[in-house]
Amino acid sequence: MDGDIDDLDRLVDEMLVYTRLERGSPELTFQAVDLSALVDQVIGELAPLRSSVRVERGACVLADDGSTVVEAEPHYLRRALSNLITNAMRHAETRVQVSFVIDAERAQLAVDDDGPGVPEEAWEKVFAPFLRLDDSRTRASGGHGLGLSIVRRISYWHGGRSQIGHSELGGARFSLVWPRKQPGQ
Ligand SMILES: Nc1ncnc2c1ncn2[C@@H]1O[C@H](COP(=O)(O)OP(=O)(O)OP(=O)(O)O)[C@@H](O)[C@H]1O
Ligand SMILES: [Mg+2]
Repeated sequence: MDGDIDDLDRLVDEMLVYTRLERGSPELTFQAVDLSALVDQVIGELAPLRSSVRVERGACVLADDGSTVVEAEPHYLRRALSNLITNAMRHAETRVQVSFVIDAERAQLAVDDDGPGVPEEAWEKVFAPFLRLDDSRTRASGGHGLGLSIVRRISYWHGGRSQIGHSELGGARFSLVWPRKQPGQ
């Protein structure tokens, strides 16, 4: 019963975030966010939830000025990163890697895992709301299929995009790319 209520709580929360983002023009207040600190924080929160999977930082490339600061809406960016790491941890065999690249114009965050990956024909589909590829297999483990649609909306509202690909670890690689400086900020 408690589990069901938690589950319902999570669903309502996700649906609120999603509809707010979908309705258009959410009020995003962009701020300076230290990407390195954010990555460490989110890893620190999520890694203990599944001890059989090691969640670590991969190679991180800093801007020429050595800075790890980017412009973003901190809560939404954290939400997007958590959604990607949660997915990766759910599907990984043993490892998840979180990395970023910052250059003068852009910031890119990537989450890699060593799970089964996503077949190319499903690359566009997985971002659709309520879609779960592995419905029958892992229904018990979880979600409602909103996580990636939220990630996509968040990157869109940052003037960026979300991408999916093959990971060198053998599984999926999901990334977010957005402008390091938001126009008019
Ligand atoms: N790292 C990954 N490896 C393999 N498949 C993935 C991965 N991330 C997402 N998927 C597939 O994409 C589907 C959609 O992901 P999404 O995050 O939107 O939903 P969910 O994780 O099932 O539920 P929710 O995020 O709402 O808890 C997943 O159900 C899964 O089939
Ligand atoms: Mg998810």
